[in-house]
Amino acid sequence: MYPRLRIDKKKFEHNVRYMQNLCHQKGLSMMAVTKVFCADPPLIELLNKIKVDYIADSRMENLMTVKSNIPKVLLRIPSIHEVDRVVKYTDISLNSELVTLEALDKAASKISKVHNVIIMVDIGDLREGLYYKERILEALRVVKSLKNINIKGIGTNLTCYGGIIPSVKTLQKLIDIIKMSEQMVGIKFDIVSGGNSSHIHLLMKNQDVEMVNNLRLGESLILGRETAYGDPIEKMFQDVVTLEADLIEIKQKPSIPEGDIGMNAFGQKPSFEDLGLMKRGIIAIGKQDVDYHEITPMDTRIRLVGSSSDHIIVDLTQTQNDYKIGDVIQFKLSYGSLLSTMTSKYVEKAYE
Ligand SMILES: Cc1ncc(COP(=O)(O)O)c(C=O)c1O
Repeated sequence: MYPRLRIDKKKFEHNVRYMQNLCHQKGLSMMAVTKVFCADPPLIELLNKIKVDYIADSRMENLMTVKSNIPKVLLRIPSIHEVDRVVKYTDISLNSELVTLEALDKAASKISKVHNVIIMVDIGDLREGLYYKERILEALRVVKSLKNINIKGIGTNLTCYGGIIPSVKTLQKLIDIIKMSEQMVGIKFDIVSGGNSSHIHLLMKNQDVEMVNNLRLGESLILGRETAYGDPIEKMFQDVVTLEADLIEIKQKPSIPEGDIGMNAFGQKPSFEDLGLMKRGIIAIGKQDVDYHEITPMDTRIRLVGSSSDHIIVDLTQTQNDYKIGDVIQFKLSYGSLLSTMTSKYVEKAYE
């Protein structure tokens, strides 16, 4: 049925193996991040087969369904309301808040477990993490004193909110914090998690960052590109996943609506350019599944005109008479559209 995502398991396996080999050659372990594909079981099975070092996800709902003996990592800073399930279902969580760490400590103690944490520090991207100019050592001293918490590592995240590109200079802030913590608090971090797919350009340029021994990689594994500059990674596949949606209407219509223009289905007043008569098609997928700005038709003669909850309107004028009702249009995906179509229950996932 359509719409559907065609997911090529062989290409995904190749990408994961390629990237994990590259990381290992550089002395880094790799956390395979599964949230962009909602930890869908067929891809988790592949990660098990490949024996990735860690399986990481930002959502507990995903991690709780993962069937694997590979250590599981919670990427999003835990909610204080979910500490019980975090200590029960994950091996490591990323953290930045003392009160939450204290709650995790209590939760772990209740089930006689020691929970591993990676302490996140913010070196300028301004999303999660103890801010590097704060009194980090004091916080680390408190965490070190928690009986059921083990400080397994330290990490940072870049190119997520602030768009900060990882560089040896920027990551020096992380290294300085590590050295200070080792000296002043006596902590030895097993894991130094340097970042996400935006770190890959440093690996490619052989700009190794001192001490960093782990990366958390999602987008690069499935879209085959690094995310500092958005460049494709040579020898990796960019087309693991393709979106397909079918035409349910094709008609010759004007390019501007007739009558007085008020609000559209989403409360906005639309504006239009008069391009004369158009051959307009409707495909059966809409805003509920994907933002049409985030998908690119493989047939470059097709132009995307707009969308409502259940429809995307396409301009087929340049395609002559190549399309008829029921024909399927294929699209390339961005990270955002992959995330939303994987999440939509109305989009079939067809593995091949
Ligand atoms: C903390 C953290 N690390 C790593 C990742 C993976 O990022 P990317 O998909 O760019 O590799 C994410 C996002 O999913 C994240 O939130």
